[in-house]
Amino acid sequence: MRMPIIGGNWKMNRGSPSSAITMLRVLKRLVKNIHNVEIVIAPPFTALFSVIQYLKKTVIRVGAQNVYFEDSGAFTGEISPKFLKEIGCEYVILGHSERRNIFLESDEVINKKIKKSLSYGLRPIVCIGEHLEDREAGNTERVIEKQLEYTFKDLNKKDMMNIVIAYEPIWAIGTGKTATPEQAEEIHRFIRNYLGEKYDNDLKTGIRIQYGGSINPSNAEALFQKENIDGGLVGGASLEAESLYEIIKSAERS
Ligand code: 13P
Repeated sequence: MRMPIIGGNWKMNRGSPSSAITMLRVLKRLVKNIHNVEIVIAPPFTALFSVIQYLKKTVIRVGAQNVYFEDSGAFTGEISPKFLKEIGCEYVILGHSERRNIFLESDEVINKKIKKSLSYGLRPIVCIGEHLEDREAGNTERVIEKQLEYTFKDLNKKDMMNIVIAYEPIWAIGTGKTATPEQAEEIHRFIRNYLGEKYDNDLKTGIRIQYGGSINPSNAEALFQKENIDGGLVGGASLEAESLYEIIKSAERS
């Protein structure tokens, strides 16, 4: 059985420690009785250290939203996986479509970031997903397959076991337009089968694949009930404790 994982990707919101902790104080109380869902909050860098300290003795895990692929040196503005590990960070979101599209990160760069993160024991949540034009042209699976091939290039099974994949169709992110449970399940199954062929059945059945894109308390449960959907990576609805909690409960029920 795969434990569902709900990630809260705060993006460039709730950047001050006090704003982050105001929300987490409520969430911490609400999730006290949640046992069968892994919860990861990814705040902006400016709140990361405070959030890690604040959540230390709780079940809520913490992730960064980005990292660079070097240990240290002359890379102005960048943060290394080593630094993240040193402050107790456990997860890192990589390959998000906003990183790919706005900051022009290629599959090759994302692949380097994954490898370096894994070498420090950070667990990458790796996003993949197609543009609307890809879907409309019937190219979704081809695009996903290419991302899987290059983003996970030269990773062995053990590496892959430490990765969570987030399928985030770009047309569904921040648009209020969610993939239907059937659309999402179809691609999740495709990803699982691809990995089963490339690695083995163990990885195919063991790797967790989250859905992301306009998840909210009313559409979450139908998505999470699908066999191949292991929770979600939530943007907007993860900014308030109550809505994130409702989504976490949906994952626990399904
Ligand atoms: P929204 O939930 O705001 O659509 O964002 C999804 C996302 O990009 C999570 O990483």
